[in-house]
Amino acid sequence: MSSTHIQIFDTTLRDGEQVPGCKLNKAQKIVIAEQLDLLGVDIIEAGFPVSSPGDFASVQAVSKIVKNATVCGLSRSVENDIKVAAEALQYAKIPRIHTGIGTSDSHIKFKFNSNRDAIIERAVAAVRYAKSFVEDVEFYAEDAGRTENEYLARVCEAVIKAGATVLNIPDTTGYCLPQEYGAKIKYLKDNVKGIEKANLSCHCHNDLGLATANSIEGVINGASQIECTINGIGERAGNTALEEVVMIMKQHPALQLDTNINTSMLYGISQLVSDNMGIYTQPNKAIVGANAFAHSSGIHQDGVIKNRETYEIIDPKEVGVTESAIVLTARSGRAALAYRAKNVGYELTKLQLDVVYSDFLKFADVKKEINDSDLHEIIESSTIYQELR
Ligand code: KIV
Ligand code: ZN
Repeated sequence: MSSTHIQIFDTTLRDGEQVPGCKLNKAQKIVIAEQLDLLGVDIIEAGFPVSSPGDFASVQAVSKIVKNATVCGLSRSVENDIKVAAEALQYAKIPRIHTGIGTSDSHIKFKFNSNRDAIIERAVAAVRYAKSFVEDVEFYAEDAGRTENEYLARVCEAVIKAGATVLNIPDTTGYCLPQEYGAKIKYLKDNVKGIEKANLSCHCHNDLGLATANSIEGVINGASQIECTINGIGERAGNTALEEVVMIMKQHPALQLDTNINTSMLYGISQLVSDNMGIYTQPNKAIVGANAFAHSSGIHQDGVIKNRETYEIIDPKEVGVTESAIVLTARSGRAALAYRAKNVGYELTKLQLDVVYSDFLKFADVKKEINDSDLHEIIESSTIYQELR
């Protein structure tokens, strides 16, 4: 059986940029968009054009420079938003308007003071209007995670009839359990008339730390697009992390799901986004964190030195990290010390290693991590090393 292609919809420049205090200027958005295009994402959501003149200019500039990906602009189900998004996207090779409205009872009642039928009418009108500008129209049912499935299916059916090409099913509040989100996608696949004319898209937030798991359940159950951001940045606890979903699909060929992503660019683009946004990436972040390929306990180090695969499921080079790191701490063993000593030019005999190791432990108990220059100092000042040289 052949694999199913999963489209990667990157929203680093829109949902990702909603992180408080992390606004990107036009020049920064252009640099990141160029890299996303080279990375191989299928769609770049460049911004929310009506939100500010600056964002309009950024979406327009990104539209001009992107060579391969579809460029998308966000709007509410409001005519002026849609018209302004269409204007901002006019230079895009492949433009997409992303429009939508809240569909959960809570959004219908408290945000719109409306009712279910009136919301469907607004959704349909928005899609029809967007369709008058571009062929590719994605509809988002905001808070779909907490929207009753039967009503959500009615919304989907109506917007497909109006011409929507993609149905975005956001778990806006990050509330769903993976099984529940997967079942929602399956329900829509099985119950929406005309579903074969549109693609289903997962857009999951990370409020309970489930964004990645939910997106994967979504594609297992029939969605064909994942909306995500580099480093998982975004509103509150963030969005699904692009690098995580891509590597999950790559490392699990049995899923038979693939993407166009050039994974060797993942680490570089993670650093680029982190530097431009001024958001530090947590060291234990999966795939791109500083410790993702660092080994510090003696048992693990011994295993990795003998064979990398004992404690690593990904070859770091596959994601653009040059090599695994053997970090020297007071928890390290002789194998790690000998390995790192060799890397800096010392081939220690067994006897030298025993003595240097005990000097090393005294040093490491005081200093948390031993770097190369500490290592030189420890070895050079060890009497046994001088004697047996
Ligand atoms: O989380 C969400 O519901 C969104 C929509 C605007 C797509 O970001
Ligand atoms: Zn979102």
